[in-house]
Amino acid sequence: MKLRAGSDDYKAFFCRQFIDTYQDYDPETLPWPDLTEAELARLRGVPFWQEVYHTERRAGAIVDAFTPQVTDPVVREAVALQGMEEMRHAKLIRVMIDRYGIEATEQPLEQFPADLETAFIDFGFGECLDAFLGFGAFKTARESEFLPSGMFDIFDVLMFEETRHIVFFINYMAWREKQRGHIRPTRALKSAWFYGRALRRLLGMVRRGQGVNEGKDFSVTQAEMFLEGFSFRQFVEDCYRENARRMSAFDPDLMQPRLLPAVADLALRGLQLWERRRPRLKQAA
Ligand SMILES: [Fe+2]
Ligand SMILES: [Fe+2]
Repeated sequence: MKLRAGSDDYKAFFCRQFIDTYQDYDPETLPWPDLTEAELARLRGVPFWQEVYHTERRAGAIVDAFTPQVTDPVVREAVALQGMEEMRHAKLIRVMIDRYGIEATEQPLEQFPADLETAFIDFGFGECLDAFLGFGAFKTARESEFLPSGMFDIFDVLMFEETRHIVFFINYMAWREKQRGHIRPTRALKSAWFYGRALRRLLGMVRRGQGVNEGKDFSVTQAEMFLEGFSFRQFVEDCYRENARRMSAFDPDLMQPRLLPAVADLALRGLQLWERRRPRLKQAA
């Protein structure tokens, strides 16, 4: 089946896909594992829970505020569902913070601009970037056995939903842009511009995370657990592969994010070339 991206049938298709793959659960009753003292200390030592909690609350607030402005009823139903899921993510993180005694304070949400659609689009590209990097980081963390696998199973529910969100968002953008008659090069440029903004925001968050952590210290041993044998190339490869694996769970007729996997692929080819030439360069030196 090939539907035209700007058509009503296509819109009904990607919204239905999103709504039909909804999973019902209550964060309170998830199978939260009991942690040993050492595991508790490791969990509490992670410096970014406060930021994650804030990001999810902010996500819920943006999507929720945008929902009544969506004129199309089918798209509105899907966006409303995403808003609800983002708020449930915030609740899930809150439940974890309370249950395991993690130190994290609730920060005030900023005032959103009147143009909520742009805020939603900004947020959407941010999710695409965060998820792509998150796929690789999640794999590294899981393999390091930093926390028991029961904990990662819970986070996996969240990761699945984030993947669903970005698939929905990419299809929403394609539909929206086609409706406005924008051609492909314009759309690609626009995506690159929004990704640039998302990257700047992410770097700002990392910097703030370092500030919060000052004095509390994500201990060297913890960092080592993650970073032992860390290779940039391996990380990019993990992001790329995990993205493909997680995306394969979705209907192949849905559009998927293309730009970041393409950039990662290019980077990997570049690294490969560099590594192959390096011995020769060394010899020449
Ligand atoms: Fe979320
Ligand atoms: Fe999300």
